[in-house]
Amino acid sequence: MSKVVICDHPLIQHKLTFIRNKDTNTKDFRELVDEVATLMAYEITRDVPLDTITVETPVATTEAKVVSGRMLGLIPILRAGLGMVEGMLKLIPAAKVGHIGLVRDHETLQPTEYYINLPTDAANRQLIVIDPMLATGGSAIAAINSLKKRGCDQIKLMCLIAAPEGVKAVQDAHPEIDIYLAALDDALNEKGYIVPGLGDAGDRLFGTN
Ligand code: PRP
Ligand code: URA
Repeated sequence: MSKVVICDHPLIQHKLTFIRNKDTNTKDFRELVDEVATLMAYEITRDVPLDTITVETPVATTEAKVVSGRMLGLIPILRAGLGMVEGMLKLIPAAKVGHIGLVRDHETLQPTEYYINLPTDAANRQLIVIDPMLATGGSAIAAINSLKKRGCDQIKLMCLIAAPEGVKAVQDAHPEIDIYLAALDDALNEKGYIVPGLGDAGDRLFGTN
């Protein structure tokens, strides 16, 4: 079974509180999501392999570590996943970025894929699917299905907030996928919103509703 990692660093938890607050404006919301994505990128890359190289310091020659050539790919789920891309690229600037467009029907809660564009070598990369919200899990599962159909099998999932229902659904559908979260909330409400959550992530990021 995969692991579920709650990134409980105090700075992440602090910023998440302001992200949740309904009175946080679009500009601040966007900046905070970006900052939390950077902090979570630190956690999700904890296991990237290192190589040893020789380096000359001003004082001596020594062996030292560098990140090995393992290739990363970020796969934001449109739209809201876009809000986390720049923050992650601050730490992993060489990552390539693919996009999957999914929209959830507000009545049925079923996701429909309307766009996909992946790096040509996506199947050789460690991919991180990013979306602020894991609610029913339908969107994340559809994105991962789409990636697997194209030969990608090294996949992690990173979200700001999840409902227990969404985590279970992803684990049932894709038991090998590790899930990184800033918070695991209480439940979904009857409209498929995470409680307490943060509302509609896409609307709050882009100022729509
Ligand atoms: C939201 C969110 C996730 C999805 C989560 O996107 O960003 O992608 O819902 O819900 P689920 O786990 O029940 O599938 P939405 O479909 O509202 O699209 P948007 O990002 O374009 O606003
Ligand atoms: N999508 C959102 O943006 N928010 C939720 O609470 C659930 C799905």
